[in-house]
Amino acid sequence: MNVLVLGSGGREHAFAWKIAQSSQIDKLFIAPGNAGTAQEGTNVDIAVDDFDAIKAFCLQEKIEFVFVGPELPLVNGIHDFFLADDEIKHIAIIGPNKEAAQLEGSKDFSKKFMQKYNIPTAKYQTFTKDTLENGYAFLEKLKPPYVLKADGLAAGKGVLILNKLDEAKKELKSMLTDAKFGDASSRVVIEEFLDGIELSVFVVTDGQSYKKLPEAKDYKRIGEGDTGLNTGGMGAVSPVPFADQGFMDKVENQIIIPTVKGLRKEGIDYQGFIFFGLINVKNDPYVIEYNCRMGDPETEVVIPRLKSDILELFEGVATRTLSERDVEFDDRTAATVMMVSGGYPGAYEKEKMINGLNNAHDAVVFHAGTKKDGPKVLTSGGRVLSVTAYGKNMEKALERAYENVKKIDFEKAYSRSDIGFDLKEVKKK
Ligand code: AMP
Ligand code: GLY
Repeated sequence: MNVLVLGSGGREHAFAWKIAQSSQIDKLFIAPGNAGTAQEGTNVDIAVDDFDAIKAFCLQEKIEFVFVGPELPLVNGIHDFFLADDEIKHIAIIGPNKEAAQLEGSKDFSKKFMQKYNIPTAKYQTFTKDTLENGYAFLEKLKPPYVLKADGLAAGKGVLILNKLDEAKKELKSMLTDAKFGDASSRVVIEEFLDGIELSVFVVTDGQSYKKLPEAKDYKRIGEGDTGLNTGGMGAVSPVPFADQGFMDKVENQIIIPTVKGLRKEGIDYQGFIFFGLINVKNDPYVIEYNCRMGDPETEVVIPRLKSDILELFEGVATRTLSERDVEFDDRTAATVMMVSGGYPGAYEKEKMINGLNNAHDAVVFHAGTKKDGPKVLTSGGRVLSVTAYGKNMEKALERAYENVKKIDFEKAYSRSDIGFDLKEVKKK
């Protein structure tokens, strides 16, 4: 099989690493990829939203599967683009069509969907610039903190959480009338704040049945103890100690099953991964958000725990035979620690030489922002690489990941030293 992976982060390296291990792989390409994906297959210099160039490449290399890593091409309709073209409609896109990708592409759409199918989520209302005054009135009825969400994609920055009513009103106005997040905030969802601990749950579906993947917890803030600015993710662990059988049964019955059934009832065809961003409020799961793709850095712990052949799963999705496929997971814990460029998520320098990549032992290094320069590997982004290790429990997995982080260095490298800190407490209870 010839496979093309779209994307260039740690998530895409983890998928490429897994696909490269499949007995069914012939040629693997990654567009545009990074220095890590170049070890697994061939990088191709094509942007993830250049659909015409992707089509030409797929024809040239007789690609059978396109795995779409990030949300943007999905929300922009790459799946529909392939289906509408006789020359390429036989190529399977692993990732939902434009309508289904609305689960991530529009907060208003996903909230309406959850409400209709009785899926637990925060109470909400949606406003536009014509209903700004009603928005103020709704805010007055809520208790702080206030949660404002741009309806559309805003590069992960479209959610504001504000403690004061006057600030919340000011931000609502700026989102709706001054296009703070461009078109994405022409509609704004205001919702009730939920207090709890978050986790990420994933399924892969062929539109009819689904398979659960291991759950994970990511760490989004730059600083120790979950402080400071939001980032693209500083580390992750899987499994999540508090997500015991009882809790995961609630997730499946109250959230996963109604979602997959709801999509079918709506006539929305979903072929790909669904990411449920959940929050545990007093042992009950609520949906914070859906994503139409896998999470990053969660993928860097979830995919290493998948024992089965990933191309078997892709085939199951493409031919709608997922229910006939076996999926097996590694019982060990996987933990990943992200190494980032000093200064990130603010300004940072690039092109720093990375040393020690070959010293990693009993760990897998997934590249995110790296590029090759002859035999050297240089940094090329804020999040540079993610070091994943296994262990019989979270503590052991983290210990091994951190031992390996120490062996790799580049100028001004930074990583959080407390990944998993909040779960240790939970576990002892
Ligand atoms: P989202 O982009 O929807 O995932 O939101 C970004 C982050 O904001 C989430 O990961 C949560 O930490 C937080 N958040 C979003 N909605 C809520 C809510 N209703 N209550 C509490 N925190 C929230
Ligand atoms: N780790 C959160 C995300 O991928 O959006």
